[in-house]
Amino acid sequence: MADESINKGRRRFLTASTAVIGGAGLAITAIPFVETWLPSARAEAAGAPVTVAIGKIEPGQMVRYGWQSQPVFVVNRTPEQLQWLPKQDPLLRDPQSKESEQPKYCQNATRSIKPEWMVLIGICTHLGCVPDYKGEVKPEPFDPNWKGGFYCPCHHSRYDVAARVYQGVPAPLNMVVPPYHFVDDTHIQIGVDPKGAA
Ligand code: FES
Repeated sequence: MADESINKGRRRFLTASTAVIGGAGLAITAIPFVETWLPSARAEAAGAPVTVAIGKIEPGQMVRYGWQSQPVFVVNRTPEQLQWLPKQDPLLRDPQSKESEQPKYCQNATRSIKPEWMVLIGICTHLGCVPDYKGEVKPEPFDPNWKGGFYCPCHHSRYDVAARVYQGVPAPLNMVVPPYHFVDDTHIQIGVDPKGAA
């Protein structure tokens, strides 16, 4: 569950990890986590789709889920983060995501179904580390012109907030976008395409 006690007075750019509970919802306490994790873990290991609640993810925040034994990041992107996306194109290795992996319905400027919601497999395309979410638009030690995105601490690969990789880093491709669809405004199901999508 997100630690909501930090970053007071500023937009929250937090990372949280959670379990999938009975197909939907955020873990709230340790006991429900244990009781509900086992069946979900089995389902996940079998490759079953998982449904997660996203209604409590604040603008700028990322929450981490699990699907097929992989970390899935869900980011509620802010208008500020989104406005920087097209301006990153000249700096990126594959700005149109032509070489990278995502469903057809996410091969667009935001790599998503809804612009504000970014869903991705949180695995660096270099050697498979899990990158850190660095959502805030502010100078970072690894990039004084940072516009928000993901930073891999293993070998310093950088991705924008659409998980598109920058030039001049070891990672060769954008991070993967999994199949997913919106069950309703506050839930997504990871692992299943939207109705009618190939
Ligand atoms: S594994 Fe991410 S930069 Fe090497």
